[in-house]
Amino acid sequence: MIEDIVKRLDPLPPKSKFIIFGGGFSGQRIASVGRSLGTKVLCSRRKENSKGADFIFNTDKEISNEIFDGTTHVLSCIPPLSNGEDPVLNKLKAKLLNSKKLKWVGYLSTTGVYGDTKGDWVNENTSPNPKQERSIRRFSCEKKWLETKLPVQIIRLPGIYGPGRSAFESLLKGTTKMVDKPGQVFSRVHVDDIAGAVLFLINLYAAGKNPSVVNVADNLPTNNLEVIAFAAKIAKKSIPSKVPFEIAKETMSPMALSFWEENRKVDNKLLCKILGYPLIYPSFKSGLKNCFSQLKMN
Ligand SMILES: NC(=O)c1ccc[n+]([C@@H]2O[C@H](COP(=O)([O-])OP(=O)(O)OC[C@H]3O[C@@H](n4cnc5c(N)ncnc54)[C@H](OP(=O)(O)O)[C@@H]3O)[C@@H](O)[C@H]2O)c1
Repeated sequence: MIEDIVKRLDPLPPKSKFIIFGGGFSGQRIASVGRSLGTKVLCSRRKENSKGADFIFNTDKEISNEIFDGTTHVLSCIPPLSNGEDPVLNKLKAKLLNSKKLKWVGYLSTTGVYGDTKGDWVNENTSPNPKQERSIRRFSCEKKWLETKLPVQIIRLPGIYGPGRSAFESLLKGTTKMVDKPGQVFSRVHVDDIAGAVLFLINLYAAGKNPSVVNVADNLPTNNLEVIAFAAKIAKKSIPSKVPFEIAKETMSPMALSFWEENRKVDNKLLCKILGYPLIYPSFKSGLKNCFSQLKMN
């Protein structure tokens, strides 16, 4: 429920205007929370008539000055292009640098920039060591954002889940694979905590607590098998049989395989202990219960 997020947050200052580039899964949720706090929020999508598109942003179209006028906060949720360029900086860097009212510029990145730590914890002081091509591109975009000297905050995310994008969709379709790779863990975060943390971080930034990089993850990195088994129990579905990773990998897409090739746990101490963000869904257990309740409502 949006109220559960909003009640933990302070509103942004009056007359704030928040532009979100990339109103996808996370972008739309952040926009909803921002609007519920009373802020004017505009979200981009690439195609006309897409749900939730307040304006169009893509490689072909210029955006009007009107969109930018009075903007105080900007967030990019758009991944790097395949050539490594950042779509927003590519087209709008000059506009951003000339926006006199900008107080905060967020960039949603990925914890993939830390690379493989063989299951060890990573925090914001861990030197990034990206190995996958897309994570190398991502780390390069993070650096480009920081080099602008705008008031930039990089928000690194692990696997994102939430209503409509969780273990339940494949379980209900009967396509879940119980890939068994002993010792493998994944960190994750519920989309409501991304939205909550973004608005929380914006207010802290204004109060001078402004770390340039913050991991936003839940408390409980977990093996995928445990997550699926928990979801199956809630949905009263039988748990599919385990498939050893060495067999499962033969039919995995290169993208899926790349996730299984890295193993790390994401530490959220900076966000939750030092900065004081209270997670709405501290682990996949409460998060999945929320996803299931939304599934039943729809
Ligand atoms: N999904 C994960 O588990 C995960 C994990 C870690 C980090 N991340 C990163 O975190 C961010 C948010 O993730 P998400 O899953 O919420 O994203 P998402 O649902 O895939 O949304 C991405 C948004 O970016 C827009 N977009 C993509 N390429 C674009 C381009 N070249 N030009 C203009 N707009 C473009 C999309 O436009 P349309 O709305 O028109 O499609 C969409 O609004 C992304 O950068 C993602 O890569 C994701």
